Amino acid sequence: MKKDSDIVVVGAGLFGLTTALELALQGYRNVTVLDRHVPPVPDGSSVDISRVIRFDYADDIYLKLAYEAYLEWYQSPKYKGVFFPTPVVMTSNSNPVGKAYIQKSNDAMDRASLPWESFKSSEAARRTYPTLSGPLASPGFLGYHNKQAGWADARKAIAGLRDECIIQGVSFVSGRAGTVIGFDRDGASGTIRAARTLAGTEVAADLFVLAAGAWAGSLVPMYNSTLATGQVLAFIRLSPEEMVKYERLPIYVNFSTGFFNFPPHQDTSMLKVVVHGWGYERAPTEAERRLLKSDVSTPPLAASNGRKNYIPADGERRLRDGLRELLPELADRPFEQAAVCWYTDTPTGDFIMDYHPDYRNLFIAGGGSGHAFKFLPVLGKYTTLALHKDLEPALAQKWRFRTEYKDVASAFPGDGSRGGPERRQLLAEERAKL
Ligand SMILES: Cc1cc2nc3c(=O)[nH]c(=O)nc-3n(C[C@H](O)[C@H](O)[C@H](O)COP(=O)(O)OP(=O)(O)OC[C@H]3O[C@@H](n4cnc5c(N)ncnc54)[C@H](O)[C@@H]3O)c2cc1C
Ligand SMILES: *[C@@H]1O[C@H](CO)[C@@H](O)[C@H](O)[C@H]1NC(C)=O
Ligand SMILES: *[C@@H]1O[C@H](CO)[C@@H](O)[C@H](O)[C@H]1NC(C)=O
Ligand SMILES: *[C@@H]1O[C@H](CO)[C@@H](O)[C@H](O)[C@H]1NC(C)=O
Repeated sequence: MKKDSDIVVVGAGLFGLTTALELALQGYRNVTVLDRHVPPVPDGSSVDISRVIRFDYADDIYLKLAYEAYLEWYQSPKYKGVFFPTPVVMTSNSNPVGKAYIQKSNDAMDRASLPWESFKSSEAARRTYPTLSGPLASPGFLGYHNKQAGWADARKAIAGLRDECIIQGVSFVSGRAGTVIGFDRDGASGTIRAARTLAGTEVAADLFVLAAGAWAGSLVPMYNSTLATGQVLAFIRLSPEEMVKYERLPIYVNFSTGFFNFPPHQDTSMLKVVVHGWGYERAPTEAERRLLKSDVSTPPLAASNGRKNYIPADGERRLRDGLRELLPELADRPFEQAAVCWYTDTPTGDFIMDYHPDYRNLFIAGGGSGHAFKFLPVLGKYTTLALHKDLEPALAQKWRFRTEYKDVASAFPGDGSRGGPERRQLLAEERAKL
């Protein structure tokens, strides 16, 4: 590919910005990023106050890459004030799925000679982390902690990437002229000529990178290999005294339910809680269906100034149940804000970095499956290796565009890290509130 090739990246989230930046650093002079909104995109999946950075994985490849990324987060001056070292406590009860994930993760850590410390009981966990005032689990507690972990301020990390892109000469188009509603195919050649936007413009390019996250599946056929699932999160406002009291709160993950928490966020005085679960599907509205000619689950397309302050009642219950096990004194506190954030799930939980089978010049970067953010410091290296078809075979195999799920019903078992009740469709009255 020539360095003055026109490259259009659709989506200014984690995948789009890391890819655009790496391409610019490699000398590509004509990279343009399109998005519904100026990054950090307030309702994008890469943005809000925090993301967990851990390298505890059941899978050897992700473990290795996450460790590579962790060292960057931890050591690079770039992430000062963005990354905050914090231990993670990974737990489960006797639920076989959560248990298996923890055991496999410990095995993978051992294979990589990385340290972790087991907790014999929930009392032992509470002795190490006395701010965990709740019962945690009993009986059947299984857990360990890893002090080499932390969290990143997601909005700041994305703003930093955006600024690096601008310095390296990447162009940005936002708003209606940056909102892609479809692609124009160039007849027989099997390529895409231009992206069509909501403003009625056409953006031509030699190469298109589709990094539109949970929205991407509405723009091109994904052969049933991605699914947009809504996940619930909430923010609790802490008093100045509570900010001190909870300062040393670890990140505590219960893989049986998917519930996890962050320590207090200094800039906003918020304590954030999330459920990493099977999530909700959202059918498109009539208008979205007409515009995008797609019927798959999708987040709302209209540009917005942030996520709606709403979560379904069962989601709220799960967040409060999680709090009750950990910090019962906060379990009934009103949420300052609650919201649905969108995962792009894939059948195996693997990312996608590959060319689309129907279009030779359409590269797909995404399929974050709820765990991609931690790879931010190294992700662009891998997406651009894939773009140049230079990935080592094991990685190329892992991140290939999978067509084999085309006719497979319920093709989304995931990577074994999800807990809680089955995925369901949002009801009409729930959709109306999002
Ligand atoms: C609640 C939540 C918690 C998470 N927690 C963690 C965590 O703790 N640790 C971790 O490692 N990972 C975590 N993740 C996963 C991680 O954040 C995601 O995998 C990653 O951010 C996805 O990046 P993306 O670039 O694919 O998507 P996005 O950031 O959503 O980017 C896609 C962009 O495309 C734009 N777009 C969409 N449609 C169009 C269109 N038609 N035209 C133009 N632009 C368009 C959108 O506006 C958006 O900005 C979490 C995700 C969520 C939702
Ligand atoms: C980018 O491509 C367009 C269209 O081919 C061209 O007009 C423009 O000069 C290019 N810009 C750079 C910086 O190469
Ligand atoms: C995880 O949540 C489940 C369901 O509430 C609970 O039974 C279990 O004890 C919790 N485990 C831990 C370790 O917190
Ligand atoms: C996958 O495809 C099958 C068969 O076409 C369909 O029944 C199923 O609902 C699809 N699954 C998803 C999650 O889209």
